[in-house]
Amino acid sequence: MDLYLIIIGTLLAAICIWKVIGMVNRYKGLIKLYNQKNIQPAGKFHPFWGHLHLGADFDEFTNICFKLIEQTKTRMVSIWMMFFFPLILVCHPETAKIVLKSSEPKSKRMGGAYFPLLDWLGDGLLISDGKKWERNRRLLTPAFHFDVLKPYVQIYNSVFSIFLDKLEKATSGGKSVEIYESVGLATLDTMLRCSVSYDAKVQEQGSNHPYVDAVRRLSYISQERLLRPWLTPDFLFYLSPIGREFSKHAKYVHDFDEKVIRERRKSLADNPSVLEKRHLDFLDILLTARDEQGTGLTDREVRDEVDTFLFEGHDTTASSIGWAIYALAKYPEEQQKVYEEVKRVLGGRENVEWSDIQEFTRLSLFIKETMRMYSPVPAIARVTTREMELEGVVIPVNTEVTIMIQVLHHNEEIWNKPEEFRTDRFAEESKRDPYSYVPFSAGPRNCIGQHFALNEQKVALARLVQRFRILPDPNNVAVPTNAVVTRSKNGIYIKLEKR
Ligand code: HEM
Repeated sequence: MDLYLIIIGTLLAAICIWKVIGMVNRYKGLIKLYNQKNIQPAGKFHPFWGHLHLGADFDEFTNICFKLIEQTKTRMVSIWMMFFFPLILVCHPETAKIVLKSSEPKSKRMGGAYFPLLDWLGDGLLISDGKKWERNRRLLTPAFHFDVLKPYVQIYNSVFSIFLDKLEKATSGGKSVEIYESVGLATLDTMLRCSVSYDAKVQEQGSNHPYVDAVRRLSYISQERLLRPWLTPDFLFYLSPIGREFSKHAKYVHDFDEKVIRERRKSLADNPSVLEKRHLDFLDILLTARDEQGTGLTDREVRDEVDTFLFEGHDTTASSIGWAIYALAKYPEEQQKVYEEVKRVLGGRENVEWSDIQEFTRLSLFIKETMRMYSPVPAIARVTTREMELEGVVIPVNTEVTIMIQVLHHNEEIWNKPEEFRTDRFAEESKRDPYSYVPFSAGPRNCIGQHFALNEQKVALARLVQRFRILPDPNNVAVPTNAVVTRSKNGIYIKLEKR
């Protein structure tokens, strides 16, 4: 008996030692691989922290990339999150193109960029991969057809009428006001009305409404979790106060969605002709979509997509509109050009019509430059499922590769004076690689909602400049910070003067 125990014990110990040696060799190999000419390490490697001791947040690693690009012209940077989790940061369009054109999946394993969203968004379009993603992307594409988007313009108008009235009150007497929070409520209002035709009086009630509060807190906590690696394992997260809060809100949102889906399914079954009488919302399209076999989406799939639209469609657009308003205030000559165009296109009308949207060419340039300067989604990530050659380096399987969108948009090798806000750069002839400018990503996993988002932004900004002259607040200069979306560390303050 003792002999058996000794043999088993020795075998187990040998396996452990063999595994540890294997791991050490693998890490040694990876450290060597990620420490060569074409792939600059973020800095000095610490045996425990890796490179984490070099920066407290994503902003600092973005700055490290800028410095390394300037000093070494590198196109890739390697970062070790402690001693066991290497990341490759891609900083050049030609390298980004290879990753974005591939069908490599999103990194949703533990610690991966999309992991914190899983228990809320499930396997919705943003996170799913492979055959499921292909089928659902095909089924959902008609939801973004121009005929479906057209009636939403009136929803944007009505949402931003409320927004402007609130703003007019808040800024009366020349007061400075923080707008990022209110823009976020307006874009969530839009998404709820367009996805499930739910008017939750979001802007009137704000976070007092439980659904609004839940969606906002879920977005916030998912982003916070990424920055707190000790909350990565589910069991630790769900024991923590923010984990318990996440779970409570996710349950509320899921129960709410399921009720809305059940009721809509029943109402469509009872009265299918209703679809011919009113405009379609996303939920109608999700419930009536059928694949080649005639199979539709299950209730759970519909729920995942609704939650994905609400998350992906409101925070991103809020960031984009928020920074655009800031840029209008900061660059008065650009504001004037936009205003003159809006005045010409709308004449005396307040509401923006579908046909006006194509006429806003100057406003389009302005929005483009804003999304370059303050990229709403600063980075996205993939994980390799096969070896991938980038800049002559063979990146092994199972490596997280992050496309640094904000860095691409400010890379001096690509952009002339990138820190200058100049809308005309998009009107000039240029041989720039299309992958230099990817606010909506590019390739097969590009943003399905980009036309929706651009239309909403145009309505919001046109209505704003038509009614007000937007002025900066010199005592509150906004400081961008890269989270899942680009926010401002200290809010976005502006003043308004009625025209
Ligand atoms: C200014 C606003 C927006 C920006 C900057 C933006 C940006 C992006 C980016 C960068 C991606 C790629 C994400 C990744 O690879 O992980 C993406 C994907 C996606 N976006 Fe947007 N987005 C915006 C608005 C919207 C809106 C309004 C909706 C929905 C109505 C939406 C729905 C989606 C979905 C479903 C995906 C996943 C697509 C797929 O993988 O097939 N987005 N978006």
